[in-house]
Amino acid sequence: MKKIVIHKPGGYEQLRIEEHTDLQPGPDEVLIDVTASGINFADCVTRMGLYASAKHYVGYPITPGFEVSGTIRSSGTEVTAYTPGTPVMAITRFGGYATQIIVKHGQVFPLPEQLTFEAAAGLPAASMTAWFALLQLAHAQAGNTILVHSAAGGVGSMLVQLGKITGCRVVGVVGAAHKTATVTALGADAVIDKSTQDLWTEAERLAPDGYDIILDANGAATLKQSYQHLAAVGKLVVYGFHSMLRTQHGIPGKLRLAWDYLRTPRFSPFDLTTKNRSVLGFNLSFLFDKTAILQQGMQQILQWLEAGKLQAPAVTIYPLEAVADAHRALESGQTTGKLVLLCKS
Ligand SMILES: NC(=O)c1ccc[n+]([C@@H]2O[C@H](COP(=O)([O-])OP(=O)(O)OC[C@H]3O[C@@H](n4cnc5c(N)ncnc54)[C@H](OP(=O)(O)O)[C@@H]3O)[C@@H](O)[C@H]2O)c1
Repeated sequence: MKKIVIHKPGGYEQLRIEEHTDLQPGPDEVLIDVTASGINFADCVTRMGLYASAKHYVGYPITPGFEVSGTIRSSGTEVTAYTPGTPVMAITRFGGYATQIIVKHGQVFPLPEQLTFEAAAGLPAASMTAWFALLQLAHAQAGNTILVHSAAGGVGSMLVQLGKITGCRVVGVVGAAHKTATVTALGADAVIDKSTQDLWTEAERLAPDGYDIILDANGAATLKQSYQHLAAVGKLVVYGFHSMLRTQHGIPGKLRLAWDYLRTPRFSPFDLTTKNRSVLGFNLSFLFDKTAILQQGMQQILQWLEAGKLQAPAVTIYPLEAVADAHRALESGQTTGKLVLLCKS
């Protein structure tokens, strides 16, 4: 098998392709021949050495990758649901950038009929993140007005769609003009292009009473203002810090990181209670063992997909060997939808 291995944190040069011996599944596991592997911003953060769960669960060397599609090669003795040759997709905690992966059978789902392997590889992590943020944590309700930062990206594009499925009024925020049409096509009621418009003036114009839910993975750049633009009983969902990770040759600036860390708001319990606001946070990679959540979320997502209510994110495909180009592209902040690696040669 081939896999991408990061031996030590660093820039793009740390993404090395290596040959390793083939894998064997344990009793409750399946071995998947990986066709495609979804790329997440967290993979870049793992490469930079700043992703807490990468250090906590694996350490270095590490193979990134949280989601794959492919075909079952073999199953453990306790697995009856998947026979060799079955097309599947799976959610993984690392290891996805490879031509083979072993996963527990509870993390595997049949490949939806309407999806190619490439599209399916980009679905599980972004859709589970959006589902968990909007529906499990923030309990979005029909009639809510929600603000989605980075609305054209992998998670953002799913948040916009799930917001509309739930009956919310969705305002998407993008950082470049070419992303506006993507977010409109996803169903957003309004799009703010913060590269040409003043984000918060426009956000106030669109929702003078504030937002019921704001979904923010920017970090220091917007968290304070996001909190200030909540309506009464509004909820701010914090699920990433990507604006803090501007890189040069794939390495984030230490001074900038330190400055952004210092200016990240600390929310006061007194202010939360007086203003009737909530701040919620999560990281799914630390919830990986809660398989009931995964099963519930994926079943719901697959039902919406089958019913034609939800579209998988649009994908841009890179060969496994071009993984560094894919990371560079994702860190440029210019991509829309998901990037996936084609692992099957
Ligand atoms: N907590 C969790 O469990 C969880 C799970 C999955 C993902 N996430 C987080 O969700 C966010 C989105 O992940 P994704 O994989 O779907 O990525 P993505 O949204 O497809 O790409 C990242 C987007 O963030 C914006 N951005 C702002 N500053 C950036 C920077 N310094 N470098 C690169 N992009 C920057 C850009 O959009 P605009 O300029 O248009 O804003 C860019 O397109 C990430 O922060 C990720 O860590 C969290």
